Amino acid sequence: MSRHSSILITGASGEIGHSLIDRLAAASSKPIVTLDLNPLVPDLARKVKQQFTGDIREAELLERIVATHEVDQVYHLAALLSTRSEFSPALAHKVNVEGTLNLLEFAQRQGESHGRPVLFFFPSSIAAYGIPTLAAKIAAGKISEDAFNFPTTMYGANKLYCEHLGRYYAQHYKQLAAETLSGKIDFRCIRFPGLISAVTVPSGGTSDYAPEMIHAAAQNQPYACFVRPDARIPFLAMPDAVEAIWKLVNCPKGQLSRSVYNVGAFAPSAGEVEAVVRKAFPSAVITYDLDAKRQTIVDSWPADVDDTAASRDWGHAPQYGFEAAFGDYLIPQIRKRYSR
Ligand code: NAD
Ligand code: SER
Repeated sequence: MSRHSSILITGASGEIGHSLIDRLAAASSKPIVTLDLNPLVPDLARKVKQQFTGDIREAELLERIVATHEVDQVYHLAALLSTRSEFSPALAHKVNVEGTLNLLEFAQRQGESHGRPVLFFFPSSIAAYGIPTLAAKIAAGKISEDAFNFPTTMYGANKLYCEHLGRYYAQHYKQLAAETLSGKIDFRCIRFPGLISAVTVPSGGTSDYAPEMIHAAAQNQPYACFVRPDARIPFLAMPDAVEAIWKLVNCPKGQLSRSVYNVGAFAPSAGEVEAVVRKAFPSAVITYDLDAKRQTIVDSWPADVDDTAASRDWGHAPQYGFEAAFGDYLIPQIRKRYSR
């Protein structure tokens, strides 16, 4: 039986998966195979060759995938996000770290078997940073990839470690073996800021207050924001997140100076997000009901990121700044979505 050269997307039913499937199905001729605990919505299911429903920790499921597909690209999106992980840290470690290790082993075996490196895209997060005080955060401004790598959350620690695991597999795997086994994985990673999509509503994250505020206003629902109006972290509109993935994975390897890249676009405070949402939806009911513990997590994340390396190496250039993200993307599309 012939196996097809395919793309595997884990966590495909989630927010990034939605937009990534659209993009890859339109731009790549390779068949897409997905793996998620939850089935894809029918519109997306039509765009993929085969979907597997189950847990990334099940070895048998990964065996079933290689029985019919020769996987040469892995987009490993499946994870528990930051807030959820903080309630169940041991489970988060199992899914976020052991699950990633399974996928790296899977990719390594695929690379060894078909003799060319398997592209492995991993979405890390600004949660990989941990800035000790709010004063230090304000003083630091835009921070570069190698500063403040002291996450305070389980999720952030999981992400930072998986960045290192990916680099280990790509460059140093089994370095004492007689035969060179590294280089079978081409590991590429983006540390995303909070993502905002017009198509999906997030759950389980700490940056969710911004997308929740706008989706609630568009549905005429009151929203109580769980961080202070002055809370500030970077955000990126979902089309720019998917474009960044596309650009990074298609960049010639020789142009990449690192395996992990920051990407930024705009970095409004919660109060500035509230102001644009109120302008678009004047009857919006937005209040603040501070969750001091979640605020502490946001305070440990950067106010903004330095993405010079991504711009220089592979041309990261987001289409949507703050005004355009809301005025040209989020507000019109979200209005349309909820007026149906
Ligand atoms: P999401 O929660 O919307 O999607 C995650 C998907 O993973 C879900 O469909 C879920 O069912 C699946 N999943 C979880 N555990 C699984 C398991 N054990 N086996 C199989 N599937 C499992 O998240 P998202 O926003 O689409 O994020 C995707 C990736 O990007 C994650 O790794 C996340 O950490 C990362 N990321 C997201 C953001 C953001 O703001 N959304 C920012 C930085 C990084
Ligand atoms: N947006 C994500 C979260 O808050 C960060 O990776 O969990």
